[in-house]
Amino acid sequence: MVQRESLSANELLETIFSYVTKLSSMKEHEKMLLVLADMGRVLSNAERCSVWLLSEDKERIWTKVAHGIEALEIQSDLGIVGDAIKKDQKLIIDDVYKDARFNSDIDKQTGYKTKSMMVVPIYDEENEVMGAFQVVNSRSSDEIFETRDMERLLLASSYASEILIASKLTKEIEDTQKEVVFTMGAIGESRSKETGNHVKRVAQYSKILALGFGLPEEEAELLKNASPMHDIGKVAIPDAILNKPGRFNNEERTIMDTHAELGYKMIKNSNRPLLQAASIVAYQHHEKWDGSGYPQGLKEEEIHIYGRITALADVYDALGSDRVYKKAWDDEKIYSLLQEERGRHFDPQLIDIFFENLEAILAVREKLKDEFENE
Ligand code: C2E
Ligand code: SIN
Ligand code: SIN
Ligand code: FE
Ligand code: FE
Repeated sequence: MVQRESLSANELLETIFSYVTKLSSMKEHEKMLLVLADMGRVLSNAERCSVWLLSEDKERIWTKVAHGIEALEIQSDLGIVGDAIKKDQKLIIDDVYKDARFNSDIDKQTGYKTKSMMVVPIYDEENEVMGAFQVVNSRSSDEIFETRDMERLLLASSYASEILIASKLTKEIEDTQKEVVFTMGAIGESRSKETGNHVKRVAQYSKILALGFGLPEEEAELLKNASPMHDIGKVAIPDAILNKPGRFNNEERTIMDTHAELGYKMIKNSNRPLLQAASIVAYQHHEKWDGSGYPQGLKEEEIHIYGRITALADVYDALGSDRVYKKAWDDEKIYSLLQEERGRHFDPQLIDIFFENLEAILAVREKLKDEFENE
């Protein structure tokens, strides 16, 4: 077996980027699933991967996509994958032959020797388990999967869920893209130990600010769907920096600051209006009105309105939330910072719109407040 260590941050970024580019020009769900299965395999550094789907009567599971082997169908109450699906569980197994659930018949048939395995469920539109993403045999030198590989497989499996849901509902591909974009944003955040609700709140705040600014409903909706992507470039930032439980030193800060341009580069090549908007947001959400922001140091109206809006929505939400490096601020302190930064960090007009719409903003904050998470 060809060994290789897990992807570096840059390779990871390039891999996701190349697959997202492929997906955005693709119309058939079956083909998209094949591409996603392959992405899951590459991202998690595995030799093989399959998408398993549960039959209508829940009696059997079958592979939608299998690399290097024929499509398979087995009883759902046999085997590791069936068990993961039944129990709605993510699994990492170092050696399947030490696992009583493992059904070695498939290995016997195919002559392929399975050793390590990871399985993550995929969900339908009612959030019911409808199948699983399985990868087999880690290519790392110790031949076992780690939590990091699991996170990367989860990224691919959540795309798969969205796509399967879309194919069931025969939704328009544009909608699928929207979901994928949202999922990517949410995963960028969850990796940085921020809750998924952060991106949902930023989305809603952005729409409120956009409407207050006078953007048409359709464009405000576009920005709502694009703004969850603002931190997608964080997927390429090493864990040790992203989740550092304290303040950054200069070097760490410099690396973190690359997330804006990295995110932009990941998605700028798509022609879709949604991804175009998302690339602007990713690029410009840390620019400041007075020109002191990054990465380009743009000022005032040089900063796209999407960038100015998302900047305010993101900082407002970040200040009010616990982070690995700081506690949540209380409301009065947040409001005085926003006023102080009116015309410095933030577009003065948007600060006024923010306070005019405070009631609606607080309603979103309450509705989408963080729940305690123990994962
Ligand atoms: P984030 O935590 O989502 O914060 C987004 C933005 O909110 C920050 O952008 C900053 O403008 C504002 N913000 C958040 N917390 C504070 C605060 O306590 N005081 C003030 N004045 N502003 C705050 P920024 O600074 O460009 O940081 C971008 C991202 O880099 C942050 O996203 C976070 O993920 C990370 N980060 C920044 N500084 C540190 C740090 O010292 N330690 C760690 N572990 N992460 C950091
Ligand atoms: C797969 O291709 O992922 C299935 C490998 C196996 O279990 O034989
Ligand atoms: C099992 O889950 O144990 C059977 C399926 C497989 O080996 O890929
Ligand atoms: Fe950011
Ligand atoms: Fe953010």
